[in-house]
Order: sequence, then structure tokens, then C-alpha cells
Amino acid sequence: MNNILVIGSLNTDLETSVDHFPETGETLIGGPLQIHCGGKGNNQAIAAAKLGASVTILGAIGNDHFGQLLIKNLKKYHVNITPIKTCKQSPTATALIMHTNTDNTIIVTEGANESLSAQDILNAESLIKSHDIILLQQEIPLETQIEAIEIAYRLKKIIVVNPAPSRQLPADIIPKISYLLPNEHEIKAFRHNGSETYEDIILHSSTPIIMTWGRSGILFKNKEKQIQHIPAYTVPTVDTTGAGDTFCGAFCCFLHLGYEKAIEKALQASALSVTRTGAQNGMPTLKELTAFQFH
Ligand code: RIB
Repeated sequence: MNNILVIGSLNTDLETSVDHFPETGETLIGGPLQIHCGGKGNNQAIAAAKLGASVTILGAIGNDHFGQLLIKNLKKYHVNITPIKTCKQSPTATALIMHTNTDNTIIVTEGANESLSAQDILNAESLIKSHDIILLQQEIPLETQIEAIEIAYRLKKIIVVNPAPSRQLPADIIPKISYLLPNEHEIKAFRHNGSETYEDIILHSSTPIIMTWGRSGILFKNKEKQIQHIPAYTVPTVDTTGAGDTFCGAFCCFLHLGYEKAIEKALQASALSVTRTGAQNGMPTLKELTAFQFH
């Protein structure tokens, strides 16, 4: 199993279910309020840890109750939380989530995530050095992401970036990334030379792109340099929040098996993740993943 350093966000998810998303100006009655541990960095760390990877997370929480809940949860899954910093000026970030049983919408408040600075990354060089894979998302400041990629590239690490929510990375940074894992919306940030279709973007990218595509599955360039589409597994879907995060965490966890095998396992893990509410509740353990009969 890989030794993974996640550099990313820690949020508290305030979530409710709706049978359809509200129109502008419409008020809806939702289901009961649920409070879950979330944040793309946090979720991806937990996804990899539940599958047996050794995981450390570098991020920021506020000096508050929500922050302590996130720490408690990370400890439960044996994620190394030593590098997490507590920010005195800002609260722990929150995400306001509405989900139907096929989709979700999310608004993230900035909170302490925005205090994770490029200097924090410079201070963490030895931490980066001691890990095989550096896994990033875009819920922390752009300059922090860039510093992490620059250092990890210099140290010859495997760098995996989930560009969510989409923030434009400088053109000279993208080739330093080992794998990009966008969804069908985020991939548009990697268009170049007029490439328009998902297939064109993937074929012409200097960095391997594995596009997660919700219920349509996965699109990527295989070893034969052909576009390959793997359809998603059909499972009873309750809440898709965190499915992409499960994919990213699982992909890193299984990358030592080769990237095509890692994609296959990650697709299975993300299929299981949507069968329960909350970003993290459905994430499978290695035992659950192995036991499940996929068709
Ligand atoms: O990807 C799902 C996550 O996005 C949620 O947990 C929420 O916190 C936002 O970061």
C-alpha cells in the first residue's frame, strides 16, 4: 500500500435531502439536517485510510467544536493528523449541501482552509519528502497548491490533483502533475489548442487525465494510448456526495498496482460510496470492497 500525504481542506458538511433542487427564489422544505465530516481533502484521506493506506493530512481547522469533531473522526480511521494547524482567526470551514438521490449541489465557505499558506508548505518539505504520493484538491489557496506541486515535483514524488472546485492552475505547473482527476465539468479547465470534446482534451493532455463522469463512469487514455470508457456500476444510489473523493483516495491507495488497476478499484469503491448518506459513511473498507460482488 502507498504512503499518502493529502494536502487539502477540512469541512463540516451541513446537509439535507430534497426531491428536486430549488429554482431561483424558491423555498423548499428539505429532509432532516445532517452534520457530517467532509471537505475534499478530509474525505480523500479517509477514503484511502479505510482501504488500508497509510495516510497523513496537512490542512487547517478553526479553534472550535467542528474542528475537534473532524480531528476525532480522522483519528478513528488512523489518519496522521500531526501536521494539521489550528487557525485562531477563522472558524472551521463548512459546506452547505443539498442532495437528491442522484445528484448534489455544494457551497463551501472559506473558513480556516484559506489560512493554509505557501509558507506552511515550505515548512513541510520534510513531510513531503517522507511520502510516496502527494494528493491535492483545490479547496485551499492556489499559491499553496502551486508551492506543494513545485516541492513535490522537485522531490520526484507522484503528484495527484483532483482539480475541484476548479481554480485555474498556471500552464507551466500542469506538466509537473503525475495524474489529474477532474470530473466532466472540471476537465474544461484543461482544454488547449481548441480541443473541445472530453476525448480530445484527454488525448492531447501532457498529464494523464482520468475523468470521473458520474453515472456514466470513467474516461481515460489507456496504455495503448486509446480512449477507454468504463461504465459505472449500477447500485442503489442514496447520496452521491463524496463519490469523486472516494475515487481519488482509492486511486492513490491502489496506484502501486498500476494505474489501470487503480482506476478499476477506485470505480468500485466510488460505486459503494453512494449507497449511504454523507460523504464518508459509504466509503468502503478494504474488506467491504473485496467482499462485494460487482457485475
Ligand atoms: O466532495 C464532497 C465534499 O465537497 C463535501 O464533503 C464538502 O465538504 C465539499 O468539500
